Amino acid sequence: MTDEERLKARLRPGCICRGVRLHRLIEAIEGGAGSFAEVAARTGIGGGSCGGKRCSAKVALLLAQYGREQQR
Ligand code: FES
Repeated sequence: MTDEERLKARLRPGCICRGVRLHRLIEAIEGGAGSFAEVAARTGIGGGSCGGKRCSAKVALLLAQYGREQQR
């Protein structure tokens, strides 16, 4: 991930209902989270009004970008 992409991730939403920015999801994955549940536990996403529908798709995409299969 480039510095510009990291900067943009600081501005983009990761979970709009909890106010978590995208870079927090990335940090969780780079820190070892390998599933939606692990990212949710580290960032607080998934418990908002979307019930994980919106944010789980973002996490799945990020995990794929980092070459990880989503663990169930
Ligand atoms: S976007 Fe907030 S819980 Fe999914």
